[in-house]
Order: sequence, then C-alpha cells, then structure tokens
Amino acid sequence: MLGQALCRTFAKHTLYPLSSRKLDVTSLDAVRHLVSDLKPDWILHTAGFTDVEKAEVKPLEAYRVNALGARNMAVAAFENGSGLVYYSTDYVFDGTQDRPYREWDPVNPLNEYGRSKLAGESFVRSHCPLHLIVRTSWLFGSGGSHFVRKILDLAQRKERLDVVIDQRGSPTFSTDLAYMTLCLVEGGKMGTYHVTNSGSCSWHELAFEIVSLSGFSLEVNPIESSKDFTQTRRPAYSVLENYCLELEGISLLRTWQRALAAFLNGMPKE
Ligand SMILES: NC(=O)c1ccc[n+]([C@@H]2O[C@H](COP(=O)([O-])OP(=O)(O)OC[C@H]3O[C@@H](n4cnc5c(N)ncnc54)[C@H](OP(=O)(O)O)[C@@H]3O)[C@@H](O)[C@H]2O)c1
Repeated sequence: MLGQALCRTFAKHTLYPLSSRKLDVTSLDAVRHLVSDLKPDWILHTAGFTDVEKAEVKPLEAYRVNALGARNMAVAAFENGSGLVYYSTDYVFDGTQDRPYREWDPVNPLNEYGRSKLAGESFVRSHCPLHLIVRTSWLFGSGGSHFVRKILDLAQRKERLDVVIDQRGSPTFSTDLAYMTLCLVEGGKMGTYHVTNSGSCSWHELAFEIVSLSGFSLEVNPIESSKDFTQTRRPAYSVLENYCLELEGISLLRTWQRALAAFLNGMPKE
C-alpha cells in the first residue's frame, strides 16, 4: 500500500519499484547485490511483515522480514552511500502514557509485530547513519488491506458492527505519508520522525466516520477490546505527537477526517 503511494508521489524522481518477487529483503546477498547494482541515492524501505495477529503465531517470519530485512537494507545502504527511509510503528509504545508520544519517549512494545519493528529501528540506527525512521500509525489508502476497507466491506453485509472503543490512535492516509516522506527526503532531514494525520480517535469513532461518510445507515456499536476475538495485545493509547515536524516548523498533515474523506471520494464507485 505505502509503496504504491510513494511511487505516485516520487514520480518526478527516477524510481526502481520492487516487489517481493524481485527482491527478498531477508536475503543479505540479494539486497547487497541489487543495491550495489542500482546505487540509489535513497532507499524507501516499505517491505514489512504487517499482519499484527499473524506475527504472534509466526514470530520467526515477522522478525526475519521486519528486523533482518531492515538490517540488510541498512548494511547495503551504508556500503553504497545511500540514504535509507525505514517505516516504523506506533506499536513500539505500550500505550500507558496519558499524552501523545514524542519521538524520544520510552518504547515498550506489547506484541511481536511491535518488537520486530523496534528491532528493525535499532538495526537501521546502528548500521546506517544516513537514515530517516518514520513512525506512523493506522494506515489506509489504495492498494492495501486495512481497517477502512474492512469496515466498508462489512457495512455492505451487516446490520450492526461491534467496534473497539478503548484503543486510541491516529489514522493516516498513505498518500499524505508519502507526501511528507518526499518533504523530508528533499529537505535533507535525518533521524526519527512521527508522521500521522492530525487528531486522534478510537477504532469505534473511525468506523462511525467511515460509515457516515459513505452513506450507510447501520448501527456501530462500541465494545471493549477484551470482548474482541483477537488475543493480540495492542496499546490502548498510541497517539503519535508529530513533535519533530513541529519543532522544525514543518506544516503538519491535514486532519484524519479530511484525509479519510479524500480517500473515500477518490475510491472507484461500484
Ligand atoms: N499498515 C499500517 O497500519 C502501518 C502502520 C505503521 C507502520 N507501518 C509500516 O509501513 C510499512 C508499509 O506498510 P503497508 O501497510 O504499505 O504494508 P503492506 O501493504 O502489507 O505491504 C508490505 C509489502 O512488503 C512486502 N514484503 C513482505 N515480505 C517481504 C520480503 N521478504 N521481501 C520483500 N518484500 C516483502 C509485501 O509483499 P507481498 O505482498 O508479496 O508479501 C508487501 O508488498 C511497513 O514497514 C509497515 O510495518 C504500517
């Protein structure tokens, strides 16, 4: 999903879009070979094991892609003088804080996905000084499987939806994240940034907004996460303060409501 948005946003640059068929990021040899062949100025490393529930039952696979894959990219980027953008997650935090998380707040992931992404962050920091680590959250956009699409699918088939109300975060449109990545790369920025659409909500509020904006009239019922079928632990509060953007006077992304409306308006009608 994010890879496709980046391809659209970076279109004026020379791009080498790669799928998992063309490059397996878990192979250091393959990554080294390709990066030394292409010698890119920047690597936008979007590959990830992104299924949070599956990462609990297949941790080896998750760490292989999220931790080793990031290490391999970092090593190859350093050897070839390329900059590296690594995308990380709000799930590096445990959600016990009562204010939005800043870039340097203490991390403490609650699940294997979060731990594997955090391991990726450490590899990037230690192996490739020329890096941007972009932590983002609750992504939606075209070309992906995500919460917004799931709610739209369910809304067509159900009369009532039960949605978790006690987890709070910031939904982020992949197009907006790609745009901010372009600003950061072209602006010569380095280090760790939190990048999300502005504002925050619970999954329940997000579902309600999706249903209202799409003109469905079903009931959206709030439930506690303990009543959800998924056993995976997730932070109750993982709002990311985009503090480094603010410190540098960079305009923050539009609100998640406006971004969601833009995404829904741009979706092909059935
Ligand atoms: N989605 C979110 O809410 C969210 C939130 C915070 C951070 N992020 C991070 O943002 C990045 C992009 O997320 P996304 O939502 O765009 O993910 P996505 O749609 O699931 O795409 C991930 C891509 O990684 C590829 N991939 C998996 N294993 C690979 C391997 N061994 N070698 C090469 N490619 C491999 C997948 O290819 P196949 O489909 O062929 O396997 C897929 O194209 C990820 O690093 C993710 O952790 C996502």
